[in-house]
Amino acid sequence: IKKFKLAILAGDGIGPEVMEEGIKILEVIKKKFMLKLDIKEYLVGGVAIDKFGTALPKSTIDGCLNADAVLFGSVGGDKWKHLPVEQQPERAALLPLRKILNLFVNIRSSKLYSSLSHLSPLKSKIVNNGFDILCVRELIGGIYYGIPKGQKMDNYKRRYAVDTSIYYEEEITRIANFAFEIATFRRKKVTSVDKANVLETSILWREVVNKVAKKYPEISLNHLYVDNASMQIIKNPMDFDVILCPNLFGDILSDECGMITGSIGMLPSASLNKSKFGLYEPAGGSAPDISGKNIANPIALILSISMLFKYSFEQLNIADAIESSVINVLKDGYRTFDILTTNTNEKLLSTSSMGSKISDYLKHEE
Ligand code: NAD
Ligand code: IPM
Ligand code: MN
Repeated sequence: IKKFKLAILAGDGIGPEVMEEGIKILEVIKKKFMLKLDIKEYLVGGVAIDKFGTALPKSTIDGCLNADAVLFGSVGGDKWKHLPVEQQPERAALLPLRKILNLFVNIRSSKLYSSLSHLSPLKSKIVNNGFDILCVRELIGGIYYGIPKGQKMDNYKRRYAVDTSIYYEEEITRIANFAFEIATFRRKKVTSVDKANVLETSILWREVVNKVAKKYPEISLNHLYVDNASMQIIKNPMDFDVILCPNLFGDILSDECGMITGSIGMLPSASLNKSKFGLYEPAGGSAPDISGKNIANPIALILSISMLFKYSFEQLNIADAIESSVINVLKDGYRTFDILTTNTNEKLLSTSSMGSKISDYLKHEE
């Protein structure tokens, strides 16, 4: 019998709502595949501020370090926006957690499922069911983490703010290696995104990516400036396979790619380090506009669980079974509000009934 330790951090807003559905899926998996899953829950984000006065308590960090993988909901919300920014959930919990766990890779896979192809904001002659982009985002460097950072006063008492964009050669090498490696299992195409016509970090980025590319002669590589990339992705989405990005550009372009598949509520993500350890979370946030209503789409979280079984636990059959049950539920017309249209075969489900529906399908999945 296989044993895995999983830390669960539901967080704020819709985080706990979609996590409840993820737990239903995990319960089915335990029974169906006879796994021993040792699940422990920890507080993170605003709820941890409320209870412990800090967004990332030591008990939560230790829980993550002791686990084989982490499943994360989302953090942040209006309730904590009055705090100094370095105490808010995003800056005080999510960013340090990624750094502590050394999660330098973030992958976000955007696929257009055939039963949702009408949902893409792009015309059907531009995007079709073959649409499948993998965003590979550098996650613990660049302008997110560079020092100095903050608001200051100059000698003339003028207020200013500074963020520092910095990349070490090694940081670029390791994320580029990952992108090329994963492209060998796909359509063998890497598009590297930068702003090398302006930014020094981007000039280094491009140089290092070219150097790494030499080790992968079977992979085709092209470079795009980020402004052009954001345009080409909606002009010719089918031309892309792996998109390799520095931290900030990857954050932005992955939301764009996700939306092409119909809703950010469908977009899962995996953050990985050198070993098989990973943190898995929906790419979207705590969605304060819809939280507390039991209407959020739990599919991004459920597909994140599929990624978890693929990349950390290396149980491909389980990963595939989860994805297939999502695909089949969609095929049968079940929808949360964000992916609902006026097609007559569609049936609107709440967050919890979507989770139950996918669990039922998973029970009966071959
Ligand atoms: P958001 O992703 O929370 O919401 C953007 C839009 O997408 C909203 O209209 C929301 O309702 C919708 N949406 C998101 N997830 C959905 C789902 N599962 N089902 C249906 N609709 C969904 O982004 P935002 O509004 O810019 O940020 C809100 C808060 O979340 C902020 O505090 C932000 O910092 C935080 N945030 C956290 C994470 C994270 O924890 N990983 C990621 C992004 C944003
Ligand atoms: C994401 C989020 C985070 C990021 C925020 C909440 C810090 O937008 O995971 O995409 O920018 O990385
Ligand atoms: Mn984001």
